[in-house]
Amino acid sequence: MTLDVSAIKKDFPLLERDFNGKPLVYLDSAATSQKPRAVIDAMSDYYENYNANTHRGVFGIAEQATNAMEGAREKVRSFINAPSINEIIFTRNATESINLVAHSWGRANLRAGDVVVLTELEHHSNIVPWQQIREERGIELRYIPVTDSGHLDLDDLAATVDGAKLVSISAMSNVLGTVTPVRHIADIAHAAGALVCVDACQFVPHLPCDVIALGADFVAFSAHKMCGPTGVGVLWGHEALLDAMPAFLGGGGMIRDVTLQGFKPAELPWKFEAGTPAIAEIIGLGAAVDYLSAIGMPAVRQHEVELAAYTLRTLKGRFGDGIKIYGPSEASERGAVFSFGFGDLHPHDISQVLDEHGVCVRAGHHCAKPLMRKLGIGATARASLYLYNDESDVDALADALAAAADFFGL
Ligand code: ALA
Repeated sequence: MTLDVSAIKKDFPLLERDFNGKPLVYLDSAATSQKPRAVIDAMSDYYENYNANTHRGVFGIAEQATNAMEGAREKVRSFINAPSINEIIFTRNATESINLVAHSWGRANLRAGDVVVLTELEHHSNIVPWQQIREERGIELRYIPVTDSGHLDLDDLAATVDGAKLVSISAMSNVLGTVTPVRHIADIAHAAGALVCVDACQFVPHLPCDVIALGADFVAFSAHKMCGPTGVGVLWGHEALLDAMPAFLGGGGMIRDVTLQGFKPAELPWKFEAGTPAIAEIIGLGAAVDYLSAIGMPAVRQHEVELAAYTLRTLKGRFGDGIKIYGPSEASERGAVFSFGFGDLHPHDISQVLDEHGVCVRAGHHCAKPLMRKLGIGATARASLYLYNDESDVDALADALAAAADFFGL
């Protein structure tokens, strides 16, 4: 395979442990990835050696903390090829990033009757904030449909985006693994005068991301799915757009001046970073970006396409029609995220039996209930792989599924 996975596995302390006397096979990276030692060490180093608040004190370790946090911002900028460091806003997670767009840009720009276009495969984080704005403002929501093969149905795209102010879409489905044609959709949306917001939670960790080439106006993602810690997310947006938007949360750090009569917001990016930021976590995200950059995102993508092909081949080869894998059947059109049904077993039973074999998969609706309804199911089991997984993990999944089939008499 493209990556030396046995060397990579050694970078992740948790992957060294066993579970119930069996090697731990972690297949839930779409929910949260494991963290390499370099990320854990960077965060411990901050707490042990220069823990201080940022952009506040002028003493030595406070400046060191500020420099480390701003250094991480520059690493993120370069990782997604953003033109300016002012465009990198640290949030709590991608959910907060999308809420920032909905509540700041949305409140300033959306009026009754305005149209926002989403897709049927969105995570709740890219549906509910817009439904909240709909309740508040009376906007119209339209949805790009999903086909039976798990692709977006773009036949009526021009009509769907006609008159829209914003199109907000996932770049890769956390359920189906579908890599969506963001650039194509963005070109048509822009031609119709709409802005484009991209939920790149499952994209930035797995594929090379160039926000300009993507054709996006806003991009949201989370650190914890890309080898970084929980508690920090990113919103990227074009500087002119962010500049024109009102502050989202108010408080310390986001102001230039405050009087009893009012406040003047700080310049970008701090205008959107009220309160003490997640300093250790931001530094950890910087270390995660260093880690992924050293391996190289084109290699990560290539590895995952190979792994996706192997997974499809193995599961279909061993279980045939006994397994139903949702999403595109071509590895090149998807990420290594496999939602599946197995016989008539409930996804929670599948997950429980796999767990007894040390194999961790998620079961449930994956925060995408409208997509589940569209698929006509309530839940799936889901195996999601990353750069530290290889064929042996896929084989362990297949062996554990075979044991489940024996146990349940399938
Ligand atoms: N959005 C995450 C998932 O798909 C939590 O599991």
